[in-house]
Amino acid sequence: MYMNFMKQYKTIYHLQNYLNKQKSLGKSIGFVPTMGALHDGHLTLIRESNKHSDITLCSIFVNPTQFNNTEDLDKYPRTVEKDLEMLKGENCDAVFFPSVNVMYPPEQDNSFHIDFGQLDKVMEGAHRPGHFAGVAQVLKRFLDIINPSTMYMGQKDYQQVAIVKELLKQIQSPTQLAMVTTVREKDGLAMSSRNVRLTAKERKIAPLISKTLFDAQSKINTHSIVNIKKEALKQLDIPEFTVEYFEIADGDSLQAINDINQCSSAVACTAVHLGKVRLIDNVILK
Ligand code: PAJ
Repeated sequence: MYMNFMKQYKTIYHLQNYLNKQKSLGKSIGFVPTMGALHDGHLTLIRESNKHSDITLCSIFVNPTQFNNTEDLDKYPRTVEKDLEMLKGENCDAVFFPSVNVMYPPEQDNSFHIDFGQLDKVMEGAHRPGHFAGVAQVLKRFLDIINPSTMYMGQKDYQQVAIVKELLKQIQSPTQLAMVTTVREKDGLAMSSRNVRLTAKERKIAPLISKTLFDAQSKINTHSIVNIKKEALKQLDIPEFTVEYFEIADGDSLQAINDINQCSSAVACTAVHLGKVRLIDNVILK
């Protein structure tokens, strides 16, 4: 019987020994960075990596530097044992779950800065100061350690993908980036590690977010952007929601657009507070 012995590493030294061996055998490394509390969205990234890369490595690290809100960091779900079982079930080859000290050695200068221009001035960047600086910092560190052939990331965090594309370009990384379509619950809600923090009542209301996005998508060739945005904000205007933004943006520059014909790709993105949970979602319009 085939047994899957998933390798588990906590230190860079042991991880790199393993990766160097695989690379010397000519194997391509697919890397899936996560913060754990895994769900089917994460597992789809693992499946994509298994399909296209020889070796799949998943990292589980709740990166403190990308949380601009301490409550969000403290309450972030941590379910490592269950995560490991799920990864084994997907035949993930190896998992890296470093401590904060391994990722950011206190004796080392861990600072890292990149100018993202206007990319991190809008939407998530505007509402979560320092968030993308933290994402860039942790991914730069992972890339230095792992140097994967391909990194797999979810469309669920569309702006994060745009930021990472820019990061890879600026550091002239040989790593390819693959974006994987958002995985949703049956009622349309985008899967997220934060969904478990919704109350039963909130969970019932939450699919209105994706419904609003899909409604916007269906109107893109018949209605003006101004009109679509107005209608979307009206739909989201219920007492349980506090809408942070609903934006229709150029799919590359992420800057707001007024005319769908102005750009070659476009995306509708939103962030909504529901109870104590902040949820984001997006759909590609063009
Ligand atoms: P995390 O939120 O754990 O997400 C890990 C990866 O899973 C990201 O690329 C995210 O876009 C993807 N993902 C999450 N939900 C998804 C869904 N419903 N469908 C498809 N993909 C989904 O994003 C992060 O962690 C962190 O910022 C990280 C990149 C690991 C850096 O710390």
